[in-house]
Amino acid sequence: MGKFDEIHARSVADPEGFWGEAAEAIHWSERWDRVLDDSDQPIWRWFRGGKLNTCYNCLDRHVKDGNGERLALIYDSPVTDTVRHYSYRQLRDEVARLAGALAARGVGRGDRVIIYMPMIPETAMAMLACARLGAIHSVVFGGFAASELATRIDDCRPKMILSASCGIEVARVVQYKPLLDAAIMMARHKPERCLILQRPQERCELAPGRDEDWQEAVAGAEPADCVPVEATDPLYILYTSGTTGQPKGIVRDNGGHAVALKWSMQNIYGVEPGEVYWAASDVGWVVGHSYIVYGPLLSGNTTVLYEGKPVGTPDAGAFWRVIEQHGVTTLFTAPTAFRAIRQQDPEAKLLAGYDLAKFRTLFLAGERCDPDTLEWAQKQLKVPVIDHWWQTETGWSIAADCIGIEALPVKPGSPTKAVPGWRLEVLDPDGKPMGPGQVGAIAGRLPMPPGTTPGIWNGRERFVKTYLTNFPGYYETGDAGYIDEEGYVFVMARTDDIINVAGHRLSTGAMEEVLAAHPDVAECAVIGIADALKGQVPVGFLVLSAGVNRPHAEIARECVAMVRDRIGPVAAFKTAIVVQRLPKTRSGKILRRTMRQIADGEDYKLPATIDDPAILEEITQSLGGAGIGRKAG
Ligand code: COA
Ligand code: AMP
Repeated sequence: MGKFDEIHARSVADPEGFWGEAAEAIHWSERWDRVLDDSDQPIWRWFRGGKLNTCYNCLDRHVKDGNGERLALIYDSPVTDTVRHYSYRQLRDEVARLAGALAARGVGRGDRVIIYMPMIPETAMAMLACARLGAIHSVVFGGFAASELATRIDDCRPKMILSASCGIEVARVVQYKPLLDAAIMMARHKPERCLILQRPQERCELAPGRDEDWQEAVAGAEPADCVPVEATDPLYILYTSGTTGQPKGIVRDNGGHAVALKWSMQNIYGVEPGEVYWAASDVGWVVGHSYIVYGPLLSGNTTVLYEGKPVGTPDAGAFWRVIEQHGVTTLFTAPTAFRAIRQQDPEAKLLAGYDLAKFRTLFLAGERCDPDTLEWAQKQLKVPVIDHWWQTETGWSIAADCIGIEALPVKPGSPTKAVPGWRLEVLDPDGKPMGPGQVGAIAGRLPMPPGTTPGIWNGRERFVKTYLTNFPGYYETGDAGYIDEEGYVFVMARTDDIINVAGHRLSTGAMEEVLAAHPDVAECAVIGIADALKGQVPVGFLVLSAGVNRPHAEIARECVAMVRDRIGPVAAFKTAIVVQRLPKTRSGKILRRTMRQIADGEDYKLPATIDDPAILEEITQSLGGAGIGRKAG
């Protein structure tokens, strides 16, 4: 048995011993009563009875240990032409003052705070300041529309919202304030206050009585100390797409999260304290939470917070420039970023201008990593390229090549093996384990390791129903795939209506809800079709109400605008096609899978239960008319 297999075997045979030992690397103000508490089945809780503060573990302890002058965070923003460095001491001081400003405005343990901000250091400071006070943050990605923000405000009922005047995209400045104002107007719950950071690129008006200037509030604040919280207290809520328009507020606890993330930095990513680690994602996603903010800081690394894109800021050499300039050893991003770079610089000619001597490993996640992209990255960078699989719910890897333990051979198309703590199985629809190579639902035997979600905010029943009911004794990942004879996992597709657009997780069901609200639309379906850059993009099919005789192109344009307006630009919903009918089974189920196969030009079998096979021909023609797919056999 190799070293990895040995460690994995121990982690599942003796989870309490294994994670209890890992927990020694965290500073606790009170030790836990039990490593793993099973008193609230089917939910397990980690380190019940323990007390700690996540911000203390991220910042203060490093200062106390004599590492205050080590770089904690590098802000690199090609869109504003800024590079700023923060040592652990500076970051601790900034966070303590911001926490003081929040505390002075009544924010305390258990209060929710929404953070709707761009990729600037103050966003990370805001998260850490909440953690310092034991308040629960909920970061909302800037690419979402006002109504998505409003849904989250009503669900988590924040005492306060922290925002900024604007975000900066490649081609435009995104004003955040009008979106924030509209969201608060729409929401039933109203926050007591908003703290607004004025960015010089575009300032905004403050609403008297409700909004306060961030800098002024912080300038007058007394630094606040860390408040120890229960290991099982929520650190944050992060909303992710479910099967309906109602997003799920995934809860993360403090104790298990700190233990798992710190462990992952050395064991999965193979980085040592002091090294520069860069997750090129956005703090609005789980990757940003875990590996821009918490993971690297818990482990005493220098994290890079990058306000830019892989291409266009200014060119496809941007990633190489950042790696060289800051001495990055490890980069984590989504395959789509590499597809974007490759599209613009197929031979990676821009690499030649940079010295990547310190660069050791590239990690990819967020979507299926196509072997072509993996091999291109390997060839150009000449370092190990590691695909790893995880989800908002799990907070860190489910499957990975744990190079800090033992680098296993890479099999393109596979994120390698279940990481320590996870016992993965592939199940058939009746919940029976399937053999090697057989495709089914991928599920993890309970209990899941620490750091994984203990629940949905306001939704214990929803949590149990969504993840723990179909396959009793397992966590249902929602992903389908297979495991080969050597234990390598292959994640192929979702089992639900979630699609993955440029590494962003989106619900086609939520888009259908928006389209169905158009007055001329009687029925609709949204599917994700293959896209060379973004992996998948959504396409909508509209059946119009009887008697509607407005131009189809006009209605389609309105539908595209509605999705952008109600879900946000991040949905990348650009194509809506009017069709006469939707293909359905005799029981009325829309044949989305067959539509996707037609759109992707794949061969498909005529479903035995199809109501009227002629409709498929109509769909093929409609897609052809929109320049999508080819006639399938
Ligand atoms: N605030 C406001 N708008 C945002 C935004 C934000 N934080 N992030 C994205 N958007 C907008 C974009 O401007 C774009 O708007 P447009 O339709 O007006 O052009 C739209 O949302 C779609 O954005 P995106 O999916 O990022 O596409 P893109 O064409 O701008 O860039 C990539 C494509 C591949 C370069 C980009 O997706 C990328 O860098 N991906 C990296 C992977 C990543 O971060 N994954 C996250 C999980 S690891
Ligand atoms: P998110 O919750 O936004 O991180 O998205 C999680 C989903 O993205 C997973 O359920 C998968 O469908 C997909 N995903 C993430 N990483 C991978 C990967 N390495 N391989 C295949 N799919 C992935």
